[in-house]
Amino acid sequence: MKRHRIAVIAGDGIGPEVIGAALPVLERAAARHGFGLDLERLPYSADHYLRTKETLPDGAFRHLRDDMEAILLGALGDPRVPGNEHARDILLGLRFRLDLYINFRPITLLHPTLTPLRSDRPIDFVIFRENTEGVYLGKGRIDGERYVAEEINTVRGVERIIRAAFEWATAHGKTRVTMSDKANAVPAHKVWQETFKRVAAAFPSIGAEHRYVDALAMELVREPERFQVIVTNNLYGDILSDLGAGLVGGLGLAASANLHPGRGGLFEPVHGSAPPLAGKGVANPMAAVLTGALMFEQLGHAAAARDLERAVKETLAAGVRTPDLGGDARTGDVADAIARRLS
Ligand code: NAD
Ligand code: IPM
Ligand code: MN
Repeated sequence: MKRHRIAVIAGDGIGPEVIGAALPVLERAAARHGFGLDLERLPYSADHYLRTKETLPDGAFRHLRDDMEAILLGALGDPRVPGNEHARDILLGLRFRLDLYINFRPITLLHPTLTPLRSDRPIDFVIFRENTEGVYLGKGRIDGERYVAEEINTVRGVERIIRAAFEWATAHGKTRVTMSDKANAVPAHKVWQETFKRVAAAFPSIGAEHRYVDALAMELVREPERFQVIVTNNLYGDILSDLGAGLVGGLGLAASANLHPGRGGLFEPVHGSAPPLAGKGVANPMAAVLTGALMFEQLGHAAAARDLERAVKETLAAGVRTPDLGGDARTGDVADAIARRLS
């Protein structure tokens, strides 16, 4: 039986709760589909940082890079670490140092009752968020009263995320890619415009359109069903992915994968550590389960991924929902209900 080495960083707040609930579901799905998971739990979190001053030690980084096929992460963020240093080193550190340049964030309406919009038309698009550049590199300086943040956009970085979006669109029978920037206000975004035109020319069967990010935010609310693939920079991708989540039920359902084709990926729900919910047993574990589905897909187990997605959909349809979705089920009830519905 094929087994996969998976590192688990449960992290802070609701991270350990959603990961703790999702893992038995993922293990059951794996077993049903003929593979196994060798899980290695790592302690890196705010607690660990406050206790040891250690964020992500170099030895652990090398172990994750060299010995693991995937990393499953809950969430990082804790009010006791207001500067978020540990999350910068662990979460952003892994994205940057593993060069996981694709942040893949699907937005799918899994049940018509989940959208706050009046329309119940299908919503199904993916965001390709550039994951290794932009303002996230933290370049800049504080110079007296000037707080300067630099946004880095390289031709190589912009080109590879745009290409990834077109390649995914082609492989998944999509007909349109939408690139979003703010080139009307940010001169550096010229690189997005130029690169998009050049890459799009190599994919003549895929429509290529552009939206400024402000207009896109509006259009996503008014007409989300017309979007298929959105490609954008690190910051706009972060913001649009929460907006997208809001269109289809919220952060309790939003999954994401940090990828570099051919390498091990980092898989995490889009949501954070939700400190007010932590320890109450009410966090929605569906985002973590759906994140596991993205991980299984990447590990070559598409059937197990589809099974997880179907089981989540049926659980939603059956009304087994945590309070974020208007229900009264607890984290563990939802996970059990999903597990029972696996084929
Ligand atoms: P958040 O995602 O933690 O919470 C935003 C809202 O969504 C809150 O109302 C919360 O209750 C709700 N929510 C989130 N996940 C939920 C779930 N699984 N079930 C039910 N409701 C859920 O965002 P925030 O409040 O802006 O950030 C809290 C902390 O998390 C901060 O420290 C932030 O930096 C961090 N954060 C980490 C990650 C990550 O590790 N990937 C992502 C986002 C935010
Ligand atoms: C996300 C989060 C992170 C980000 C934070 C915690 C740094 O919001 O994964 O969406 O901005 O990338
Ligand atoms: Mn975010």
